[in-house]
Amino acid sequence: MTAIQTSVQGHLEIGGVSTADLVAEYGTPLMVYDENMIRQKAQAFRQAFNESGLDYQVAYASKAFLCKEMVRLAEEELLSLDVVSGGELYTALQAGFPAERIHFHGNNKSEEELVMALEAEIGCFVVDSFLELELLHDLAKERGQHVNILLRVTPGVEAHTHDYIMTGQDDSKFGFGISNGQADRAMQIALCKPNYTVLGIHSHIGSQIFELDGFQQAITVLSDFLQGLRNECDVTLPVLNIGGGFGVRYTEDDKPLPIQTYVKAITDSVKESFGENGYPLPQVWIEPGRSIVAEAGTTLYKVGSKKIIPDLRTYVAVDGGMTDNLRPALYGAKYHAVLANRPNEECTELVSVAGKCCESGDMLIWDLMLPPTNFGDTLAVFSTGAYGYSMANNYNRIPRPAVVFVKDGESRVVIERETYADLVRLDR
Ligand SMILES: Cc1ncc(COP(=O)(O)O)c(C=O)c1O
Repeated sequence: MTAIQTSVQGHLEIGGVSTADLVAEYGTPLMVYDENMIRQKAQAFRQAFNESGLDYQVAYASKAFLCKEMVRLAEEELLSLDVVSGGELYTALQAGFPAERIHFHGNNKSEEELVMALEAEIGCFVVDSFLELELLHDLAKERGQHVNILLRVTPGVEAHTHDYIMTGQDDSKFGFGISNGQADRAMQIALCKPNYTVLGIHSHIGSQIFELDGFQQAITVLSDFLQGLRNECDVTLPVLNIGGGFGVRYTEDDKPLPIQTYVKAITDSVKESFGENGYPLPQVWIEPGRSIVAEAGTTLYKVGSKKIIPDLRTYVAVDGGMTDNLRPALYGAKYHAVLANRPNEECTELVSVAGKCCESGDMLIWDLMLPPTNFGDTLAVFSTGAYGYSMANNYNRIPRPAVVFVKDGESRVVIERETYADLVRLDR
């Protein structure tokens, strides 16, 4: 796991800030992002692509975690932005993100969302259905606009990951199937549309992927598809978008590859597949989300009640749970944690960390070794930066936590803690 940094008082430190100070100033539950780590991940992707010599775009997948400060960070790190809803697009525009670097995804974009994106003159629409192919073109034509599109295709590749986050297989709610000919048909339609510039194709095979072969297989299928298009229609498209999906470390069992290794495997496959066909090397776009923010995020909780069931289990409850981190309940996701106020004390107690929702499924971690825990201790759960706050909810009318960025010993709030008043604000 990440090397534990501690303050002089022996408390866990993140980004040079003591968690004891963070808890004292901002309370719990608290989402803490190590800003430098996010920037390093973004730079590692861009650096690896610079070394490949290929043209590229690294688009941050907003769905992993988004707020205005995250948008500004992405802009400063020269990332593009992958958005999948009107809400993500609105956040990006409110934070002043350059619209030409925004890519709009989604298997069921509404007319309102499409109009909002057209008015903002975003850089690229990733078209996902025959309905959208017609609707977006009609809306663009009405406005006398010309828009860039990618077609999302499903390469029929089964990525080795959890079913809920696998998207590249034939039976997927996303994209136009290649093996059933729908991608071909969609491409023929798109190429005939006067208000479209078809830049290329997109595929995203899944998330939390540790092996390279899924990406390599997808690239082979996609390059064959583009080569076929070139042979039949003499059309050469400049962009290949491989999506995201690069795995991260949640527990010791996870063995993610270095970012450079993922990018090199992808760019080598592209050079090989396209080179051997004599196809001009395309720009390669990717959309990492989890691999940019997950490990940079830590959630701090206050330890509350403890239930010891002799010879069975010890439950330690915290002041958050599935309302700020739904992944354990939704995917059975695993996490690692330590006591932030006593991180280096010997772990002698086997406990299971329960969330505070009135829901048996609200368990954050099963069977975790900790030092003997006491009421008021601070539990730090690592690698909660992706699909944590972005899936936060108000079940049991529990307010969503505050989110802070820490950097070089300084901390700042980027999302305020919800109040009870916020919870009833929309009630009539
Ligand atoms: C189209 C698309 N691109 C990118 C991503 C980001 O994936 P990850 O966070 O695993 O990098 C997702 C995640 O679901 C996605 O659906």
